[in-house]
Amino acid sequence: MNKRISAIFLLIAAAVLVWLLAPPPLPERWTESETALISSLSLSALPPLPPDSSNSAADDERAAALGHRLFFDPRLSANGAVSCASCHRPELSFTDGLPIAVGTGPGRRHTPGLIGTAYSPWFYWDGRRDSQWAQALTPLETHFEQGAGRTAIVRLLASDPDYKTMYEEIFGSLPDPARLPESASPLGDEPGRRNWRMLDPDLRFKISSAFANAGKSLAAYQRKLLPGRSRFDDYADAAAIPQGDTHHRPGDTLSRDEIAGLDLFIGAAQCVNCHNGPLFTNHDFHNTGILPVLGQLPSVGRFDGVRLARDDPFNCLGEFSDAAPGQCAELRFARFDNELTGAHRTPGLRNVTLTAPYMHTGQMGTLAEVLQHYDEAPTSMLGHNEAKPLGLSSRQLRQLEAFLHSLEAAPAAAAEWLRPPQH
Ligand code: HEC
Ligand code: HEC
Repeated sequence: MNKRISAIFLLIAAAVLVWLLAPPPLPERWTESETALISSLSLSALPPLPPDSSNSAADDERAAALGHRLFFDPRLSANGAVSCASCHRPELSFTDGLPIAVGTGPGRRHTPGLIGTAYSPWFYWDGRRDSQWAQALTPLETHFEQGAGRTAIVRLLASDPDYKTMYEEIFGSLPDPARLPESASPLGDEPGRRNWRMLDPDLRFKISSAFANAGKSLAAYQRKLLPGRSRFDDYADAAAIPQGDTHHRPGDTLSRDEIAGLDLFIGAAQCVNCHNGPLFTNHDFHNTGILPVLGQLPSVGRFDGVRLARDDPFNCLGEFSDAAPGQCAELRFARFDNELTGAHRTPGLRNVTLTAPYMHTGQMGTLAEVLQHYDEAPTSMLGHNEAKPLGLSSRQLRQLEAFLHSLEAAPAAAAEWLRPPQH
């Protein structure tokens, strides 16, 4: 009798042990709507890069070659030491590994990556620029980033023989550098602004046009930085193949934990509400309750961003844009309401495992911290947090993180675009 009881006890203990150690249940097979959702995240669902009507040089190979040189050239800065690539380093997926960027001075925000950003209708964490070329002009004149000033950039283009030839082949003649003061910029220091005001309006227009063309070339270059296929994409494409075709069904491209993480990502954890489509972003702005960093006020984010994009002289409707007003619907009809207070642009998640730290001011050092934040969904200091607490187990949080690793991939760009140009 006693033996029998202990045998039953052992059996129960063994069952409990098996239950505890067993891998989590996998979705035996995805439902039809899950399969459709997974397919919509695959790179195979990414359309070709849409044209940018505000930039007539966007797909000009010569402009991309010029932009490539400008991107890596530190002469485009006040101290001759900072290029775009100082902060957007190719080997770090075009980020800098810092919480907050450092240029000619200490910055304000965290440096995002550039792979696939050409698809975005808005640029910056607050979306204060509406095109990739208008964005590129901003660090050139921002005193703590490159701080070169408008006239200095145009002087460099006009006085470097290589730049002058490359530029004039695409855009026509540059102003004579002898007519350009050393420093003159509407956004510069007081002497620079005074010099700018004193210039003939016609020359001012010519300088700003040439400056805009430098931005259009930098944009043409960045349009080459496209995302490459990851293990997840192979899994997603295989998952879409009908049940009967066992040969091509999802196989071993994802581990059990990664698949469980995918299940959470599109299901219980609701990540896909905002991180959706093949670039894992809805290109929209959301408040996710990110706390400000010490010494900074909470960022109002998109609430200011819309206004700044509308006021930008280099926007789609401005005099340096190549678009007809009818082609600027995104800017003209941009959503603007109180809900946007404290909202920031949803970042894409491809290669996110390679680009720590995270968030608009680099508040979070690791993905584990990011996931902990989503699990708790704290109250926002400004506006309200749109995400709800998730109550996931630590194992589930690890599975979500495992899934994010399956999105790692080398960019689908020719190797020469990923390093400084070879002269
Ligand atoms: C001092 C470091 C620094 C330099 C130099 C710099 N950037 Fe950035 N870049 C940043 C930071 C920080 C942000 C985000 C700022 C914000 O959102 O307010 C950013 C944002 C961007 C974005 C928007 C990406 C997105 O997802 O919205 C693009 C594109 C970009 N930079 C391209 C460039 C180009 C082109 C240059 C050179 C002309 C350049 N950057 C120079 C730090 C830098
Ligand atoms: C309500 C929309 C929304 C939801 C839901 C959401 N995110 Fe985000 N995510 C954002 C926004 C917006 C940011 C940038 C926030 C900021 O910096 O202020 C972000 C940032 C991130 C980052 C940092 C990326 C970087 O480059 O800095 C990661 C990683 C991330 N989210 C993963 C997830 C995961 C995993 C989930 C599901 C648990 C999730 N997100 C759910 C909108 C969302």
